[in-house]
Amino acid sequence: MQPIIESFLDIPTSTFSHVVYDREGGRAAIIDPVLGFDPTSGKTSLAPIAPILALIKAQGLEVEWILETHAHADHLSAAPPLKDALGGKIGIGARIIEVQNTFSRLLNLGPDFAKDGSQFDHLFADGENFMVGALRACALDMPGHTPADMAFVIGEHIFVGDTLFMPDVGTARCDFPGGDAPALYRSIKRLLAFSPGTRLYLCHDYPPSGRAPCAFTTVAEERHANIHVNDAVSLEQFVSMRENRDKTLAMPQLMWPAIQVNIRAGQFPQPEHNGSRYLKLPIDAPAS
Ligand SMILES: [Fe+2]
Repeated sequence: MQPIIESFLDIPTSTFSHVVYDREGGRAAIIDPVLGFDPTSGKTSLAPIAPILALIKAQGLEVEWILETHAHADHLSAAPPLKDALGGKIGIGARIIEVQNTFSRLLNLGPDFAKDGSQFDHLFADGENFMVGALRACALDMPGHTPADMAFVIGEHIFVGDTLFMPDVGTARCDFPGGDAPALYRSIKRLLAFSPGTRLYLCHDYPPSGRAPCAFTTVAEERHANIHVNDAVSLEQFVSMRENRDKTLAMPQLMWPAIQVNIRAGQFPQPEHNGSRYLKLPIDAPAS
């Protein structure tokens, strides 16, 4: 049985969210939903999830899962408002605990921040099988961009998170704390070992001018044409390219807000005694 998939692009962050379901009136997973956030005013917005809510309602779907491919550094997760509205379990890779420990240290989060993944409803192990309604699904560890990246195989499609981008864009950066370029190469090879026609659904697209954003590509297209990691590229070549390129990249604009929220499964920190919530910004922080 193959999934029905609808993809939604958040233009400010170039992020694709995907809704995957088994049939009209059936059960669904929502992957990588985006909360609008203006870092200059601190205002949040539910506008990016409005079309997702509309689809779920129009198709009469029951949400079983809200899946995060990783703790994103470029957008805030909208998992909590979706869960409040629709139900479902928020899931992420079990190695999120490593990411929580790293950023707890970098942000000096203190004892109130649990570093055991307990903010999430489910932590996926590598190779763990699960169901989305009548659809068979499997979680695969994809370390490299971060230690906790996962891909979700649903039917014959794979939601790859930030491992691969479109062939003309390449691959995800590996210079965030816990990033590992050799690990990303091995993770990508694991994806590219699937059959050539397998569709790979992306978390982002940053198209060159003249090309419209694409939500998916295929194993065959990536093996043939990915500018960073096609079949002709060795581990050594990839690592050298990736590490040199990463030195040229600025931090994402929403890095610190996004990480603080996303390692809490999309929740903001607890309100302070005046009832307001605040985010931290480390000054001249060490790199790892
Ligand atoms: Fe990412």
